[in-house]
Amino acid sequence: MSTATQTISQTAKEALPHTVNAKNDGSSQQEGYRYAHMLPVFPQDEHYPPLTPFEHHDPGARALNHPNPRSFLDNATSVVQLTPHLGEEVRGVNLAALDSDGLDQLALEVARRGLVAFRDQQDFIDRGPDFYLEFGRHFGRLHIHPTSGHPANYPEFHLVYRDANTTFNFEREDRISSTVWHSDVSYELQPPGLTALFLFSSPETGGDTAYTSQVAALKRLSPQFVAFLRTLKAVHSGVEQAEWSRSGKRGGVVRREPVENVHPVVRRHPVTGEEALFVNRQFTRRIVGLKREESDTILNFLYDHIDKSADVQARVKWEPYTIVLWDNRVTAHSAIVDFAKTGERRHGARITPQAERPIPALEGLEL
Ligand SMILES: [Fe+2]
Repeated sequence: MSTATQTISQTAKEALPHTVNAKNDGSSQQEGYRYAHMLPVFPQDEHYPPLTPFEHHDPGARALNHPNPRSFLDNATSVVQLTPHLGEEVRGVNLAALDSDGLDQLALEVARRGLVAFRDQQDFIDRGPDFYLEFGRHFGRLHIHPTSGHPANYPEFHLVYRDANTTFNFEREDRISSTVWHSDVSYELQPPGLTALFLFSSPETGGDTAYTSQVAALKRLSPQFVAFLRTLKAVHSGVEQAEWSRSGKRGGVVRREPVENVHPVVRRHPVTGEEALFVNRQFTRRIVGLKREESDTILNFLYDHIDKSADVQARVKWEPYTIVLWDNRVTAHSAIVDFAKTGERRHGARITPQAERPIPALEGLEL
C-alpha cells in the first residue's frame, strides 16, 4: 500500500480497544476483523474526470409487463409492510440467488414501496465486492463517490464508518441533531435510483436509518401549491461536501471536482409515474429564478415539512446481515447518530447505481 494512502488501520488502530483481535498479540487491532478488506481507504493520488451523461434503462420497467411482478417474493417466509406510505421487510428471500428477471422485479418493488429491508442476507454479504459490483450493475452505472472512503481497489463502494475515535461520514457535529434528510448525491446530473446499503458491523442498539416518502410528502400539500412547485427547478450542489473534505475531514480527498446541477422541484418516477418532491436540506441550495428570500422561504418550508412529517416516515432497525434497498428518486433518508458515545463500530457499504436525469413532473419544464 502506498505511503500516500491514509488507511483506517493507521488512524484508528489505537482507538479500537474493543475491536476483534483474534491473536491478542499486539498485532493490528484490525487484523482479526472479518471485514478488514472492506475498510475505507483514501488514496491521495486518485483523481477522476467529470462524469459523462449516459442513457439509463430502468430495470423496473421490464417488470411492468410481467404477469406477476412480485413472484420473486413467492418463497418469502414473511413480508411485512412497515408503514402505509413506504417500507417493507422481507425474510426468506436470498437476494444473491435472484436471476435477471428477479432483479427487475426487485427494482419495481423498491420503486413502489420506496424502501425494502431484506433480512438474513449472509450469503450475499459473504460473496464479497466483485459480486456486489455485478449485482449493482444490473440497476445502472455505478457511481464513484467524489469524496468518501472506499475499500482498496473498489472505488465504486461508498463506505460508512464510525468507531470510538473516528468517523469518515459526512457528519456535522456543530448541530443540535444528527438528522439531515437527503437524497444521496442529488447534485449529480443523474442521481442514483435503486440504492443498497448493508452493514458489516453495527452497534448493539442505535444507528437506525430513517426514511421518508417524498411521494407522500408531496401529496400532503394543496393542489394549488403543488401546481406551483411543479413549475420550479432548483440548484443542487456538491461544493460544500467537497470543501468539507478539503478542510481535512473524511480522509481529505476530493477525487472528482464538485458539480452543481439543476433539477425539477417535483420529479416523476420513470417507471411508476409517481410524482415526488426532490429537494433536500443537504444538497439543494436555491430555486432558480426566484429572489433569495422567496427561494429560502419555500425551501425552508419544504425542509420543515419533510423534517416533521413522521406520518410519511419509516425507520429501519439494523440486524446482522440486513440489506436495505431504497429508491433514491422518491425517498429521502437520514442517518441517526445516537450511538456515538458507546464507541461501538458501525461499518457498511453502499451500492449506488445512477439512474436517469430527473424527469420534471411538469411536462416541458426546461432545465
Ligand atoms: Fe445518504
